[in-house]
Amino acid sequence: MKRTTKTLRQAKGKSQIVCITAYDAVTARLADAADVDVILVGDSVGNVVLGFESTVPVTMDMMAHHTAAVARTRPNALIAADIPFGVAHGEFSDLLKFCMRLMQECGAEAVKIEGGAEMAPTIARLTAAGVPVWAHIGLQGQCVFQEGGYRKFGKTEQEYAEILAAAKAHEAAGAFALLVEMMVPELAAEITRSVSIPAIGIGAGKDCDGQIIVMHDILGLSPKKPSFAKVYADLSAQAVTAISAYRDDVREKR
Ligand code: KIV
Repeated sequence: MKRTTKTLRQAKGKSQIVCITAYDAVTARLADAADVDVILVGDSVGNVVLGFESTVPVTMDMMAHHTAAVARTRPNALIAADIPFGVAHGEFSDLLKFCMRLMQECGAEAVKIEGGAEMAPTIARLTAAGVPVWAHIGLQGQCVFQEGGYRKFGKTEQEYAEILAAAKAHEAAGAFALLVEMMVPELAAEITRSVSIPAIGIGAGKDCDGQIIVMHDILGLSPKKPSFAKVYADLSAQAVTAISAYRDDVREKR
């Protein structure tokens, strides 16, 4: 069954929405064969497969290239694409043009935008233009240089209140879902209870409407994975064993 923003909204409150990243046709086919609900073409493509240290160097062209590869597989999962660093803070017309490119030329069905309450007016303009927006709050990978690293959010009363307010502002702005990353589980749970749109967690406890994970982290394909990501398979080890067997066959002239 094809997943849409409507099927996600209908799944609110059931804690069953399954989301995962994919960056190309190979990983998109794997995700869809496993019947996930959402494939995110995350800007984590930068550090997970393109060899960058963070998501910051990821460009619009890179996102377009990877989103199109995922969409060519025509998955049942909803295809969401990340808006990369800086773009949502520039001219609105440039942002809208890029969303149009992602949706019209690359096959994205939604976009994901990092940002606190300050991003709500932009989200309202995009949703008014017909762009489905998934709002990303809590830890925002694109702020890694500003933050000086990665950490858990919502530990102080002020930060807790700001993130909760951002969740409500994004809902009011028309976001179809929230992504709540790396925050104290009580905050993720309160956000989930407080908004009528699905809240999808990562490193935010179990009391969300669903979870998202970076595929390469759970398949043992990431050199650095966050502590909350459970490894379900060690594909790196299996691949090295297979490639070594091939190497031996070649060298032994088999
Ligand atoms: O880009 C990404 O992979 C993300 C994760 C939080 C899922 O945004």
